[in-house]
Amino acid sequence: MHQTPIYPDDKKLAYELLVAQVSALVEAESDFIANCANISALCYEAMPQINWVGFYFFKDKQLVLGPFQGKVACTRMDWGKGVCMAAVLSKKTVNVANVHDFDGHIACDSASNSELVIPLIKDKQVIGVFDIDSPIFNRFDEIDETYTNQIIEQLLKNTKLDA
Ligand code: SME
Repeated sequence: MHQTPIYPDDKKLAYELLVAQVSALVEAESDFIANCANISALCYEAMPQINWVGFYFFKDKQLVLGPFQGKVACTRMDWGKGVCMAAVLSKKTVNVANVHDFDGHIACDSASNSELVIPLIKDKQVIGVFDIDSPIFNRFDEIDETYTNQIIEQLLKNTKLDA
């Protein structure tokens, strides 16, 4: 039975614990969807001031909704539109302080004001994104970028995509 630990107040220490938890989860299970689902649940519990976290998978030039935590979300996003697709196109982490200023932003939950998107890159191809939304403007900083990328590295290193 999973028990939520008490995350330290120190942001880096809290992330160290979260990354260790992710690492333990993905080392114990090789199924990609199962691991994406648990990573969403874990991050939703562990990260303060977020209202949505989850995965979209890149299929036929669209992003299709995967495992997530939060309110019901858009199921498909078209090529070229939105913050998530910007991460697909640039193959880089996209950190948006105010989503209302982002041209083409797709509002799934009207409570979201800032957003962090990490592309999932396997063999140089973007296979999806990890998307985190917050109701707080400018919620995400370099510490969030660094550790969320470590979470995705763990996922991609230890999980079989065709499992
Ligand atoms: N805001 C995203 C859409 C996904 S939701 O935030 C869950 C975007 O513009 O790509």
